Amino acid sequence: MDFLTLASNRYSIRGYDPQKPVEKEKLFRILESGRIAPSAANRQPWTIVVVQSKALLQALTTVYPAKWFADAPVVLIVKGRKNEAWKRRSDNYCAIETDLTIVMDHMILAATAEGLGTCWIAAFDEIKLRQILQLTDDEVVFAITPIGYPIGNEVVTRPKIRKTLEEITEWL
Ligand SMILES: Cc1cc2nc3c(=O)[nH]c(=O)nc-3n(C[C@H](O)[C@H](O)[C@H](O)COP(=O)(O)O)c2cc1C
Repeated sequence: MDFLTLASNRYSIRGYDPQKPVEKEKLFRILESGRIAPSAANRQPWTIVVVQSKALLQALTTVYPAKWFADAPVVLIVKGRKNEAWKRRSDNYCAIETDLTIVMDHMILAATAEGLGTCWIAAFDEIKLRQILQLTDDEVVFAITPIGYPIGNEVVTRPKIRKTLEEITEWL
């Protein structure tokens, strides 16, 4: 699959088959795609948390209380350490959010290539997530995603509602 087709095939999936687990080999290829992501000054200030245990998946439903989220057999969380991330000297810009976002995007696209569904989630309860994962003050999470096989209407591709290239480009 060429990259444009892959990127076009990625949708936010909000319906998962709770009976269909994610194969270990697929999960490892997805994690490997995250592992090789670029980061500022190659600091790699991240840890990818793979949640598969029933107890923890259950606990995470309080963090993002949607039925479809609870049905996913796996949740991936990218957590990062601010102190390890590169900072720009001129204005102290910290690359942590960018670094963690790239890892997540690599994994989400890799999951698409494996025929799996994902959904970028930022609207989670950050305080509850911090408690469940026992994050230190230095640790941050910007996005989590369920991973699983799409179910029902979710497998039907829908049109991408996007601005046109004309609207979003400036050719100088
Ligand atoms: C930074 C970010 C945060 C998002 N947070 C959520 C979320 O909390 N819950 C949700 O259902 N979708 C969330 N989404 C998914 C977007 O709604 C979705 O990507 C957008 O509507 C385009 O649809 P598509 O992903 O199917 O192409 C988020 C996406 C991004 C990039």
